[in-house]
Amino acid sequence: MECVRIEGRAYVGGRFTRVKLGKEGCRTLQFSNDYLILPGMVDLHVHFRDWGLSHKETLTGGAAAALAGGVVAVGDMPNTKPHIRTAELYRKRLEEGSKLPVTYRLHMGVPGDLAELDAAKPGSVKVYPEDVEAYGWGHVEALMRRCAALGCVVVFHCEDPAYFKGPERPPEAELRCVERVRALASLTGAMVHLTHVTLPQTVEASRGWATVDVTPHHLLLDVENCRDPGLCLVNPRLRTPETRKALLAALAAGLVDIYATDHAPHTLAEKQSSNPPPGICSLDVALSLLLALWRRDVITLADVVRLYSHRPARLLGVNTEGTFVVVKLEEFTIRGEEFAGTCKHTPFEGFRAFGRVVATATKGRIYLKGEGVYSL
Ligand code: DOR
Ligand code: ZN
Repeated sequence: MECVRIEGRAYVGGRFTRVKLGKEGCRTLQFSNDYLILPGMVDLHVHFRDWGLSHKETLTGGAAAALAGGVVAVGDMPNTKPHIRTAELYRKRLEEGSKLPVTYRLHMGVPGDLAELDAAKPGSVKVYPEDVEAYGWGHVEALMRRCAALGCVVVFHCEDPAYFKGPERPPEAELRCVERVRALASLTGAMVHLTHVTLPQTVEASRGWATVDVTPHHLLLDVENCRDPGLCLVNPRLRTPETRKALLAALAAGLVDIYATDHAPHTLAEKQSSNPPPGICSLDVALSLLLALWRRDVITLADVVRLYSHRPARLLGVNTEGTFVVVKLEEFTIRGEEFAGTCKHTPFEGFRAFGRVVATATKGRIYLKGEGVYSL
């Protein structure tokens, strides 16, 4: 494989500097100041499907979307078919994920038998509202105790199903879950991460005992500006414009720890059916949506790197050294048909974004969009 090296302007350690990346003797690609080099991004919440759900997305399809979006490491979710609740399945999936061109981590599912945790020693466990319904809060408490002893992070999709009203999942379900998990965290000493939080009150309430992430869709889409019954359906639900703007304000105030997509592919036919499944695809463009907030002065470039690289890397235990992404500092319009993954539909269709990803480098390789793969 031909090798290349990169020269251009980078944002490193909080300042802009010219860098040369790669080995001497390789063909040099010069990037002008219309481009910017950033550390590789890390998305701690994706669904790469496969395993019984490969018609929605595959591990390789998901990895292609990640690379297209400047993402070099992911935290995949366990709600495959079967759901990953045993050490055996956990190891099997990690083994498959380790072959991908991106760094792969997996949040283990809640085991019925908590001894599976001792065998699997996962870095993190994902708790769904469905787990609370199936096993009860007592089991969640026991899980948190076990994770406190083993050092795993308990990642919550925090909505208490007791507050669902039929198909409605009101904000109250999130508020009540956060109260409950806060009490359990203090009782058990477990490390807690609250994923895809939708309410500014949750961000506020998490201070001191949990970390939180927010998604591009809960920051940018709401029940007014996103009305397609299929494409806009997601759990937790999109909120009102007021709530969304308050969540964005919390991000701007530096109160949010992490940005993560919850990239959750379903087929277009499923999304357009009379009973669409929840989930939004955005991995290809999540970085550019975040960079658009920098462009609009909502957040700083340091925030971008903290939210979508440094902090999620720390939570997943990933080293991003030697990884980078090159973005072109231009505005562009999002087109799902240009997505590299299996999923080519998105409620962000037609949205303006900033900072088009032109190259992603990780594991000794660089993926140049429209050109191919080279060694570094
Ligand atoms: O919208 C969602 N989609 N929320 C979830 O919790 C699951 C996810 C999926 O797997 O499709
Ligand atoms: Zn998810």
